[in-house]
Amino acid sequence: MKVGIIGQGYVGLTISAFASEFFEVVGFDNNQKIVSQLNAGISHIEGVESSVLQKRIKAGRFRATTSGSDIADIDLVVIAVPTPLSRDRQPDLTYIEAACKTIGENVKKPVLVINESTSFPGTLRNFIKPAINKYSTTAVEHLYAISPERVDPGRGDYNQKNTPRLYAGLTSEASEKTREFYSRFCDEIVEVSSPEVAEAAKLFENTFRQVNIALVNEFAQITNALGISVYETLDAANTKPYGFMKFTPSAGVGGHCIPVDPTYLAAVAEEHGAPATFIRRANDVNLEMSKYVVDRVQADNGGSLQGKSVLVVGVAYKPNVADVRETAAELVIEHLRNRSAVVSWHDEVVGTWRSESSAPLSGADISIVVTKHDSVDEKAIVASAPYVFDTTGKIKGVKGL
Ligand SMILES: NC(=O)c1ccc[n+]([C@@H]2O[C@H](COP(=O)([O-])OP(=O)(O)OC[C@H]3O[C@@H](n4cnc5c(N)ncnc54)[C@H](O)[C@@H]3O)[C@@H](O)[C@H]2O)c1
Repeated sequence: MKVGIIGQGYVGLTISAFASEFFEVVGFDNNQKIVSQLNAGISHIEGVESSVLQKRIKAGRFRATTSGSDIADIDLVVIAVPTPLSRDRQPDLTYIEAACKTIGENVKKPVLVINESTSFPGTLRNFIKPAINKYSTTAVEHLYAISPERVDPGRGDYNQKNTPRLYAGLTSEASEKTREFYSRFCDEIVEVSSPEVAEAAKLFENTFRQVNIALVNEFAQITNALGISVYETLDAANTKPYGFMKFTPSAGVGGHCIPVDPTYLAAVAEEHGAPATFIRRANDVNLEMSKYVVDRVQADNGGSLQGKSVLVVGVAYKPNVADVRETAAELVIEHLRNRSAVVSWHDEVVGTWRSESSAPLSGADISIVVTKHDSVDEKAIVASAPYVFDTTGKIKGVKGL
């Protein structure tokens, strides 16, 4: 079987690496640089080893392309393109539409189309299928299914193989073929009764995290006002063996999922006249954390940050990845610059970001730790400035949330 995977980013390349052990995979991406790198056997995604790609390329099981005609003879196609928010923070399905156009214009025989991109309930049935039909130049009846991606890049304990996977087809034949595909490389696959249930479950998983992170971020502000340690209090609560799940405070949430997916759920809820108050408020609390952090730092430093050199340590949205999408560091830096601080950042995992390079981990008046990569030495952070504020709870003996 020949499989086309549209989008070769975190999700698409990860699936390509697993699926190409069993199938011939063509990775389609419209970014020429990524495609050239992949064909040279170089992975740009944490968790996908270049050596695996090289092995698959050598065996003729994987190649990347920017040409739609290369997916003309596939039997199955997976959509794994971004689903961001638009400028007015609404669901943006333009990448999905572009992927549908590629499929519609190039795939002339009936195939199974599986969507792995995260979107609101109804996307497969009411958007993807009609869009592919709209762009198809011949009348062709594809099969359609959803299997939302749950990959957590950089994570060691759970991967494609041992993370249970939800799926549902628009027809029973689509469900059956989807099961056959994923059961080759996933230990546990769970069928649900409709694509809408699978789509909603994925959004709720990330909304659950978003709301709980917001709650603990608010709690950190309460414990600070009370003069007690948020970390000790959370550890104390966590001794309860049931009915509690520990989340930890931070400078805010980042990445492609937690700051974005709940807004997809809120948008579809409001469109159907249902309330999404928790989701909206949680989003605001998480966004406001960056200001809270900078307010605390300013208060500790004589009430003004003007002219002070401030080093933001860790700008990736989470430890041990180079991903800066929606990173809380961006808002922290913005607040600092608005208060006339002289801001630089240190993150050798990220390296270069917004045309700026990682600065040395030393010589600042103030350091604010937003993300702590395992590779960064705790003692070097403590020595980087006379005043260090830690938002991660990982640096001992300094100020923090
Ligand atoms: N990254 C994660 O941890 C994660 C986890 C679960 C679900 N998801 C979801 O999976 C989807 C993909 O996310 P990602 O993190 O892999 O994104 P990504 O930005 O890492 O990768 C997307 C890739 O798609 C390519 N692309 C964009 N438009 C294209 C088009 N029209 N045709 C071909 N290629 C195109 C881009 O060049 C990029 O390489 C999103 O819906 C996201 O919400 C992501």
